[in-house]
Amino acid sequence: MIRRTTVREALESSPLGSPVTIPGWVRSNRASSGVAFLAVNDGSTFGNLQVVLDRSLFDEATIASASVGTCVEVAGTLVESSGAGQSREVKASGLRILGPCDQSYPLQPKRHGMEFLRTIPHLRPRTNTFSAVFRMRHRLAMSIHEFFDSRGFFYVHPPLVTSSDCEGAGETFQVTTLPLDGVPLKDGEVDYSRDFFRRRAYLTVSAQLEAEPLALALGGVYTFGPIFRAEPSDTRVHAAEFWMIEPEAAFMDLDDDIALIEAFVKHMAGTVRDRCGEEIEFLTKFVEPGLPGRYASLLDSGFARVTYTEAARILRDAGTGRAAPLEWGQKPSSEQERFLAEEVFARPVFVTDYPASFKPFYMRLNDDGRTVACTDLLAPGVGEIVGGSQREERRDVLESRASQQGLDPAIYGWYFDLRRWGSAPHSGFGLGFERMLMYLSGMKNIRDVLPFPRTFGSMA
Ligand code: 4AD
Ligand code: MG
Repeated sequence: MIRRTTVREALESSPLGSPVTIPGWVRSNRASSGVAFLAVNDGSTFGNLQVVLDRSLFDEATIASASVGTCVEVAGTLVESSGAGQSREVKASGLRILGPCDQSYPLQPKRHGMEFLRTIPHLRPRTNTFSAVFRMRHRLAMSIHEFFDSRGFFYVHPPLVTSSDCEGAGETFQVTTLPLDGVPLKDGEVDYSRDFFRRRAYLTVSAQLEAEPLALALGGVYTFGPIFRAEPSDTRVHAAEFWMIEPEAAFMDLDDDIALIEAFVKHMAGTVRDRCGEEIEFLTKFVEPGLPGRYASLLDSGFARVTYTEAARILRDAGTGRAAPLEWGQKPSSEQERFLAEEVFARPVFVTDYPASFKPFYMRLNDDGRTVACTDLLAPGVGEIVGGSQREERRDVLESRASQQGLDPAIYGWYFDLRRWGSAPHSGFGLGFERMLMYLSGMKNIRDVLPFPRTFGSMA
């Protein structure tokens, strides 16, 4: 095993004058009269370590072999730097090439376009932008566990293979071991009794239905896992495989749910702001100048709240500018959602109580009989990041909405049972992890916050 000092330790905490061995990848190699300078990055922190090679100690061929992209191990002494741009550097006594790299290496020191970088997902984590995004992704993930753990929510692990289409939109990936070139039929239909699970199976589109029984036993629970949606939408904000956080809690109504969402989103933003200062500074400079304003809009004021009916009125009164009017009963378009968050409220806004007609069966029907107790959180720049609701806890109402939406009671029977035996008011929500990360990093395409994005028509 190599006993190594990380670049982060070398720049922040290792004592000056101490001998160090630091492996990493060369970002630049430039020679001046008596010395050569390597910038070495190992991903542990944002900055590069400057390595100074005395050209009387190292031959030209060795120095030249440490070209951009090469993996090197530098041995030397940590000293104060007199150069601009860094406070410390390493005076090298040894340079070992761990992994040579030739001139065809695609990441030469210049700015590359995002489109090009998407074609090399195995290399782009070595760029400043992507290493910053993936470090931020880690910090965001940790903040989720901190938040729910500190509030007494239990982390639970529902299955990824399910028999239900929770959102009812039919956008599922089917899981099967039946041969596609000779599917067994019975009475003219596919004979699923011969499939692996002896029934039809899908990759989950939401962990909610399985989180509810756990909430109705443990109180408050949350999931954090991958979600699969076969939505044929080729947009900046849709992925076929993404991650969702789904808290679910008994004895919580829609107002409690909304308060929980706001506290959760603020906790995530606050943690990232406090712990990813360098990343935010870089991303503000090169990716999204409005980033500090976003953190301010998340952290410094309360989120706005408006009902769907009121939002429809606002859109009607706004005329036909950027956002077309919304007929009551229509689903708002993403332009209309962004108009509300960006121009009308200029901060994150909860839209509540949508028409029941286009929402899933599990949302609690309001007393008006035509809207449901649900909310979407819309954020400027990204659009919807959270969808949540109070759940229908009344068995008769639930079963009648499920049958209106054509759900098979044989599949959802266990879900109805929860309303039969010890039902309780309960609520929950789903937050799209990548959409939140887009918001906090300023990245404009969901493909650029996932290490290996899977989107409609593409799996690089
Ligand atoms: O609004 P959605 O579809 O809600 C549900 O699935 C509920 N069952 C959640 C719950 O109440 N437990 O999805 C929740 C969030 C969206 O607001 C969005 O942020 C994200 O998941 N999302 C996607 N993110 C990336 N790509 C996609 N294709 C997404 N679809 C939804
Ligand atoms: Mg939604």
